[in-house]
Amino acid sequence: MNILLVGSGGREHALAWKIVQSEHCDTLYCAPGNAGIAACATCVDIKDTDIDGLIAFAKDNAIDLVVVGPEAPLVAGLADALARENIRVFGPSQNAAQLEGSKAFMKDLCAKYAIPTAAYGTFSDADDAIAFIKKNGAPIVVKADGLAAGKGVIIAETEDDAIAAVNDMLSGNAFGESGHRVVIEEFMDGEELSFFALTDGKSILPLTSAQDHKRVFDGDKGPNTGGMGAYSPAHMMTPKLHDAIMETIIRPTVDGMKAEGCPFKGVLYAGIMLVGGTPKLLEYNIRFGDPECQPIMMRLESDLVDILTAVADETLENIIHQVRWSSQTALCVVMAAKGYPGSYPKNTPIGSLEQADAVDGTKTFHAGTAQDTDGQLVSVGGRVLGVTALGQTTEDAQAKAYTAVDTIDWPDGFCRRDIGWRAIKAQKAA
Ligand code: AMP
Ligand code: GLY
Repeated sequence: MNILLVGSGGREHALAWKIVQSEHCDTLYCAPGNAGIAACATCVDIKDTDIDGLIAFAKDNAIDLVVVGPEAPLVAGLADALARENIRVFGPSQNAAQLEGSKAFMKDLCAKYAIPTAAYGTFSDADDAIAFIKKNGAPIVVKADGLAAGKGVIIAETEDDAIAAVNDMLSGNAFGESGHRVVIEEFMDGEELSFFALTDGKSILPLTSAQDHKRVFDGDKGPNTGGMGAYSPAHMMTPKLHDAIMETIIRPTVDGMKAEGCPFKGVLYAGIMLVGGTPKLLEYNIRFGDPECQPIMMRLESDLVDILTAVADETLENIIHQVRWSSQTALCVVMAAKGYPGSYPKNTPIGSLEQADAVDGTKTFHAGTAQDTDGQLVSVGGRVLGVTALGQTTEDAQAKAYTAVDTIDWPDGFCRRDIGWRAIKAQKAA
């Protein structure tokens, strides 16, 4: 098969690494890719949101499968455009992508199909929103309806903060069009985990769980980021919790989307809050998480192309029982440019990655990297590398990952030193 992967982050490098291990993959292209992906795929200079450019490339190069990494092209209708050209695609239609593209759509689906989630209201009018905040009190959560690059959620400690966030969003000053409608919801206190499942619109293949680390500094301090590290499986996962998530959240979502006339095909990434042991849905993403995808791909033992093709062809039922996972823990430490998530310098040189990859059981996935004109590897983004390791325990995987991190020569980068701490603490207490 000729396969085209769309995207350029650490998630896409992990997908590319796994796709080229498949016996079905003849040629892998990636649009636009990064310096790490270039080692296992042919990178083509087409933006991930350039739908016409991607379609033309797929036609010219006899592409048999397009795998879409990020949400923006899916929300913009890339999967529909490919389907119209009879090109096989892994990723949901534009209508189904609303699960991530519109928080109001997601919350209304939960209300209609009794999926447990925070109580909420949806508003376009500031006075109505403020009345709702005053009635419910703080802490309370204010969310921009549309995509906001992971920044559209304000956890307001006071009513005044919540009102300020509403005014900021509805005025269009924060998040533009995405903030013209807001969802205001109950604050839920608990521990978070991510749960991934694949569906072809009918059958469901539960993948696995993971836990992200959203704050920039050790001990979960400092501002939110896109994710500073992750490990899989999440330490609090049990067969009972797995079943509860499948029965109360994932299955009703898949059935509900079908009943609404927009069957979901692709990966469902459920952000879940455990409230007193009960899983409640925080949000849906319609793509793999980044950096959660990196440890998940390291734990997957089956052929990824078989799985993605079965989703696209709606034949998932045939392979559900064949998918194998490593029982080991995988853990990914993100190395970011100093200054991230604020402003940071670009084009800083990175060295010694060969030594990092030589550490047994590890793989360093690239996110924001490029090669400059002299062939030197340089940083071109905020999150730059995802150093990922497989180990018998979380502690073991963590030790391996940091051994690899410490071989990397990147003076302008930094990382958290405590990825996996909740799991290690819980395992020590057990
Ligand atoms: P979201 O993009 O909806 O996942 O929100 C980003 C982060 O905000 C989540 O990962 C949670 O940590 C937090 N969050 C979102 N909604 C709530 C809520 N209702 N209660 C508590 N925390 C929340
Ligand atoms: N790691 C968070 C995300 O991918 O949205």
